[in-house]
Amino acid sequence: MIRQPDDWHLHLRDGEILDSLVDVTARVFRRAIVMPNLNPPITTIQAAISYRQRILSSLKEGLDFQPLLTAYLTDDLSPKVLKDGFEQKVFFAAKLYPANSTTNSSKGVTDINVISPLIETMENIGMPLLIHGEVTDPDIDIFDREAVFIDKHLMPLLKRYPGLRVVLEHITTEKAVQFVESCDAQLGATITPHHLHINRNAMFLGGLRSDFYCLPIAKREHHRLALRRAATSGRSCFFLGTDSAPHLRGAKVSSCGCAGIFNAKYALESYVEVFDEEEALDKLEAFASENGPNFYGLPLNEKFIKLVQRNYLVEELYEVKNERGSLDHLVPFHAGERLHWHALSVENRM
Ligand code: DOR
Ligand code: ZN
Repeated sequence: MIRQPDDWHLHLRDGEILDSLVDVTARVFRRAIVMPNLNPPITTIQAAISYRQRILSSLKEGLDFQPLLTAYLTDDLSPKVLKDGFEQKVFFAAKLYPANSTTNSSKGVTDINVISPLIETMENIGMPLLIHGEVTDPDIDIFDREAVFIDKHLMPLLKRYPGLRVVLEHITTEKAVQFVESCDAQLGATITPHHLHINRNAMFLGGLRSDFYCLPIAKREHHRLALRRAATSGRSCFFLGTDSAPHLRGAKVSSCGCAGIFNAKYALESYVEVFDEEEALDKLEAFASENGPNFYGLPLNEKFIKLVQRNYLVEELYEVKNERGSLDHLVPFHAGERLHWHALSVENRM
């Protein structure tokens, strides 16, 4: 039994597919920070309010789930919109995508210096900045983009805005682990289940496997091991963020397949598997249910969730509806593999 966890980094998408995704997360997680990289992205207070409404109307009755919405930073977003949205409790945080770094990021930020007024505002009002930490320079090797971002952009940013609270999202390298550990409470990091399970070989096992392609891209084995040590350390700067990022089958199986892994279906179970393998089940609750709320200054969830050992096979495909309302599929992370833990329903008390 652990305190009910939250997902501090999630893609719920929009339209028909939203209906098939909200309950999958809400079965286990009480809150989730929902990413704003829709098409078009969430850049206004009104867009965030109506997206939150659509999420809540997709939620099955009886499930207690709180989506925390984010603003998508662009070069020309006004600081007033950000401030008003934060003060009205519509925007929980703001997301910085370097332009063209990942899915639906073409309207992202072209140069961090251009958004100085936005960042100053965030520092002043205490609004957290969530960062996709990769440079986009095509001359930088894709496996080095996170490390270069830390040196070139993150370090100067933290120095320049000492009062700014920052989350480096979905970290993938030993360097990121060490850097986050070396900073004080100004910086936190989320870690995904897939980066704890796979290294870059997974993308090339017997052929090109787009189901394991995500951004930041999975790295070498020693990076995966560093991430495992970080997540299971119990240290307060590391917390759960699945980055579950569903793309329909056709968008993955393509000559230019989309980045993203749909892990929400068994996300908690996937993390538990790692903590069990690392003999660190006693650290799971800190990572999944305590460090995130503590970083964001939110109360811990009051309910609990029971984890039981159960050996089962993960389905190859998860059925969803596409935009035309017809049947389509997502491939869940761990498809065709056996998992050994199952999360039962949420309970009121220990
Ligand atoms: O793999 C990813 N998919 N990484 C991201 O940063 C975005 C996400 C998506 O939205 O598909
Ligand atoms: Zn993401």
